[in-house]
Amino acid sequence: MREASVYTEDELSASVEEGRVHRRLYTDPAIFELEMERIFGVAWVYVGHESQIRNPGDYLQTQIGRKPLVLVRHSDGKIHVIHNQCAHRGVKVVNAEQGNAGEFRCCYHGWTYHTDGRIKNVPLQNGYPAGFDPQDPRTAMVAAARVASYRGFVFASLAADGPSLTEFLGHLTTSFDDMVDRAPDGEIEVAGGIFKHAYDGNWKLYLENLCDAAHPLFVHQSSIEAAQKQADDSFSDGSGEIAVRQMRQNGAPYSFWESQVGIWAYPNGHSYLGDYHDDAKLVAALQDPVFRDYIAALEAKQGRERTRQILEVRRWNTNVYPNLSFMSQFQQLRVVHPISVDRTVVYTYNFRLKGAPEQMFRNTISFANIVNGTGSPVLTDDLAVYGRIGAGMSSGGAEWLQIGRGTTTDLPDAHGGRRGINSTSEVYIRNMFDAWLGYMTRPAVA
Ligand code: FES
Ligand SMILES: [Fe+2]
Repeated sequence: MREASVYTEDELSASVEEGRVHRRLYTDPAIFELEMERIFGVAWVYVGHESQIRNPGDYLQTQIGRKPLVLVRHSDGKIHVIHNQCAHRGVKVVNAEQGNAGEFRCCYHGWTYHTDGRIKNVPLQNGYPAGFDPQDPRTAMVAAARVASYRGFVFASLAADGPSLTEFLGHLTTSFDDMVDRAPDGEIEVAGGIFKHAYDGNWKLYLENLCDAAHPLFVHQSSIEAAQKQADDSFSDGSGEIAVRQMRQNGAPYSFWESQVGIWAYPNGHSYLGDYHDDAKLVAALQDPVFRDYIAALEAKQGRERTRQILEVRRWNTNVYPNLSFMSQFQQLRVVHPISVDRTVVYTYNFRLKGAPEQMFRNTISFANIVNGTGSPVLTDDLAVYGRIGAGMSSGGAEWLQIGRGTTTDLPDAHGGRRGINSTSEVYIRNMFDAWLGYMTRPAVA
C-alpha cells in the first residue's frame, strides 16, 4: 500500500493507456483515497430527489463519497445539503435515515441547528473566547459548496468552482427528461422503499457493468436458460412475465447486440445504452391493456404527437459519472456508494409516474426485484463476478486490463460525444477513464 501523496500526476497518467488501464486502479487503497478526494470531492454527485423532501423540515441522510451529509428542505422551501457534523465536538447530528424536523439537535451536548444548518442555540453560552461566533457559517452544520437540481434530481458538489450542473450533465439532461416526461402529470416521485445491495469490489465496476452489452450471454446464462424453459402462460399477472422476458432478452446472440443496440458516451464520463428490449413484449407492449390505459392518460395530458415523441425515446441504462445510474423505461435509479477500494454499496430507488395506472408502478417494483433485488437470479450473478474480479487480480497475472474493443470503429456523436459502432464497444469505459484521468490529475481541492 502506498500513501496517496506518493502518486504523481505522471504516474496517474501512466496508469491509463490507449485501450487499457492498469489493474491498480481497482485494487490500490491509495488510488481509492485519491478518488474520494479528487473525484467525489469535486464532481456533481447525486444526493436525492425532491419528492423525498416534499415538505418543509423533510430530511434524509445522504452521502458524497464516504462523507455523510443531510439533504433537507428548510422552512422557506429551499433545499440544502449540509455536512452531518456538529460544530461543537464533531458528533454526527442526524441519525435517522429520514424524517421531518423543526430543528436538528445534537445528542451529545444539545447544540441545535436550523434546518438550513445554521446554529440555532448553544447551551451554556458563556465563557467562550472573543472570536467565537455561533453565527459564523463555518461554525454550523456546514453547507456543501454547491447544490442544484435538474427536473427534481438534486446534486451537490463540494467544490466551490466548476461547471454548472447543466454543463456537467450536458446531453444527458435528455435522459432525465425522458424519465420525467413519461409521467402523464409531468411529475415523478420516489416510492416503494429502497433496494440495497453490497458487493466485494471496486465502485467503478458497477457503472461499467450496467452498460456492458457483451456480458449477459455469459454471466446470466443460468437465468437465461431457466427463463427459456418457462412457459409463456405461467403467470396470471403481468409482473412475473416481465421478469421472465427480461431474462430471456439477456440471451440475445452477439448478432443482436451488434446490429440493433447502441452505446453513447459523453463528456465528464457519462453514457447510455440504447434500449435493446423488444417493446412489443415488455411493459411498453402496445397491446398490453395497462400500457394502453397509460398511453391514453399520457395523450389526454400531452396530446398524441407529444406522446409519440416521448415514447419513442428508448434508452436502457444511463450512467451519470461518478455515482448514478438510472433507467427511464422502468423508472429505476441506483446510487453507488463507495466504501473502500474493494467494497461498494448500491441503493436502488423506484419512481411512480404521476397520472399513470398503478399497475405501471407494480411493474417497476417487479422489474427492480429482478434487476436490483438481492434475491434476484440476475443481479446475484453480477455480484459474484465483481468478487471474482478481485480474486482474479490478486493472482498477480496480467498487469493491464483491456478496454480497447471498438477503439478503431467508434464514431463521433452529433451532441459532442462519441458512440460505439454498436453496443459491444467499450467506448463508455474508456470515456469514464478519460473523465477519471481529468479529475485525478487536476490539483486537489482543499
Ligand atoms: S458534540 Fe454536538 S453538542 Fe457537543
Ligand atoms: Fe449483468
